[in-house]
Amino acid sequence: MKLREALASGRMILEEYEIEDAALEAEVLLRDVLRKTRVELYRELDNELSQQEYNAFRRSIRRRCMDIPTAYILGRREFYGRDFLVDNRVLVPRPETELLVQKAIEFAREYYAPLLADVGTGCGIVAITLALELPESTVYATDISGDALRVARKNCRKHDVSIRVNLLKGNLLTVLPQPVDIITANLPYVRESDLPLAGPVSAEPRLALDGGVDGLERIRQLCRQAGDKLRPSGHMLLEIGQGQAEAVTMLLRSLFSGAKIDVLPDLGGIDRIVCLSLA
Ligand SMILES: C[S@@+](CC[C@H](N)C(=O)[O-])C[C@H]1O[C@@H](n2cnc3c(N)ncnc32)[C@H](O)[C@@H]1O
Repeated sequence: MKLREALASGRMILEEYEIEDAALEAEVLLRDVLRKTRVELYRELDNELSQQEYNAFRRSIRRRCMDIPTAYILGRREFYGRDFLVDNRVLVPRPETELLVQKAIEFAREYYAPLLADVGTGCGIVAITLALELPESTVYATDISGDALRVARKNCRKHDVSIRVNLLKGNLLTVLPQPVDIITANLPYVRESDLPLAGPVSAEPRLALDGGVDGLERIRQLCRQAGDKLRPSGHMLLEIGQGQAEAVTMLLRSLFSGAKIDVLPDLGGIDRIVCLSLA
């Protein structure tokens, strides 16, 4: 079978299963099997696929039809221009989280050798990106899931930051050994009742998504712990879900009177990041 035919048949199967962006997904899965760039794939559309390659492609398509996220099938996801290992032990990194990182980097430039803490680190994208973008920094990365931390450890090794990213297992900030300049957190913020039962998101760890009755249980807990774990001129950046900005802002105002609080929208115009600045 030619690459062009395999691509078309993969796309058709994904469409039958109502997978969004079926054409793009088929292309990404085929490129992964063949280890080819987009340009190479389209240049070689009339080449023949070996039986082994065809079988591997069909396997990937079948898994995608079973609602397994593409990132889990590929075993990786790009974030902030770098490749991270991911599997079903961690949330699939979302592009919105790049805004959290971008803003944290801006704040961190106020300090020489900043000390940072990333809470609920998952596969480590935020902590590792901060360590790489801020070469003088030291980063604590916490998660309550030992499974997630095992993936984060692999990513630390992959990006050669194991010495500067300290992985800690425990509840939010309780395991942090000292106050820090900047706290970042993309904690679970989906309302229990909104947790999807089908689709690729349902394959992600519940622990990474479930924010309790109103979606804000973990975030509230973190805000209450942050007073003791932020240095006097520190910043905290929280990723939030749609419609949560007002509740989080009000809570922070009640806990940190006099602090500056900003809300940043993502590219879709949804309020996505709440920034607390103590001084
Ligand atoms: C939404 S995921 C975010 C993962 C990663 N930071 C990212 O942006 O892709 C939330 C993470 O918080 C972790 N988590 C949930 N409850 C926690 C808690 N009480 N303390 C620490 N981490 C927690 C989950 O295990 C999960 O890895």
